[in-house]
Amino acid sequence: MSFPSLKIGDLVARLPIVQGGMGVGISLSRLASAVAQEGGIGVIAGAMVGMREKDVVSDPIEANTRALRQEIEKARSATRGIIGVNIMVALTTFAEMARTAVESRADIIFSGAGLPMELPRIFLDACEQKKEQFRTKLVPIVSSSRAAGLIAKKWLMKTGLLPDAFVLEGPRAGGHLGFSEENIFDSSFSLEKLISGVVDVARSLEDKAGRAIPVIAGGGIFSGADIARVMNLGASGVQMATRFVATDECDADIRFKQAYVNAREEDVTIIHSPVGMPGRALENEFIDAAREGKKKPFKCVFHCIKTCDPQNSPYCIASALINAMKGNLDKGFAFCGANVGKVKSIVSVHELMDSLRREYDEFMAGFWRDRSPAQ
Ligand SMILES: Cc1cc2nc3c(=O)[nH]c(=O)nc-3n(C[C@H](O)[C@H](O)[C@H](O)COP(=O)(O)O)c2cc1C
Repeated sequence: MSFPSLKIGDLVARLPIVQGGMGVGISLSRLASAVAQEGGIGVIAGAMVGMREKDVVSDPIEANTRALRQEIEKARSATRGIIGVNIMVALTTFAEMARTAVESRADIIFSGAGLPMELPRIFLDACEQKKEQFRTKLVPIVSSSRAAGLIAKKWLMKTGLLPDAFVLEGPRAGGHLGFSEENIFDSSFSLEKLISGVVDVARSLEDKAGRAIPVIAGGGIFSGADIARVMNLGASGVQMATRFVATDECDADIRFKQAYVNAREEDVTIIHSPVGMPGRALENEFIDAAREGKKKPFKCVFHCIKTCDPQNSPYCIASALINAMKGNLDKGFAFCGANVGKVKSIVSVHELMDSLRREYDEFMAGFWRDRSPAQ
């Protein structure tokens, strides 16, 4: 029974669990290495990773790429497990960050918040310029089979490369969502309904790729039983984020983690992010004030998100998320998944993985019992 491994090309994760990248500063090397050490895939969030660097305002590209390199090195020195990075397409530093991840030998780049059409070109350019065959796997994060198909078609046409896997992020995920506000609560867009379409796209590409293209499903996965259910629908693994916030090793301030423990289901809200996408977050006075028009336009020190229009945004999303990560929730807000209300305590990554494994085993034992012929 027990968890099957997750294979992405020649990488084999003992547990089929990817810790979703969480910006700003929620998943850095500490959390990522703890997850990787347990046998999952740990992911460092690239968004504003250079926030603590002295030159982040004067030279944001240098500050962010340097900090990303250092976080990857720190994670590497803590574990021999699989370390990925999450680089959002919407970042103005996307190309430099992706290139840095490849050159720093990140095992995997996960990329969403837009379609990562340029990712394979950036990868090939890095290989060519460094005269080295890097092995970084390229994994788009999508919200539909259509996006998966479009990305694969464009990558193949322009570079001959295909994705090494897909992450399918459903509408119950935390942070920015790849769905319109109407579709977030429309059951025809549920993660469970979307899986088979993306799995079909992945399967249709496998002959050309000459390898398996696993689909990793995320957004609202809370228990081991949830993992079993989406894997029974064709996913090869899961991406989970909210559960990893409430761990000792999560890189956020304890007040951020405590906000998760205190959250009730009715505290979860959908915001219109200055990024131009809906986002799921914990409602608080900061969000209420922005909604009521009480927040003032701000001076933008570094245009970090391509789609952000600082002149017409009620607040700076980077500052709001950095404040929240530091525990100053009155000056920002916490992104969260739809299931945050079920989080009851802060545990170690090891304890979390153990409980997920137990729940998975229990669910699968029942699953096979129900299917075995009556004695
Ligand atoms: C606090 C927080 C920050 C997030 N930041 C990012 C991010 O920087 N980039 C990204 O692609 N996804 C981000 N996400 C989405 C997660 O990586 C993940 O796919 C999703 O939350 C999974 O759903 P779950 O939280 O219900 O497990 C974030 C989610 C949370 C909760």
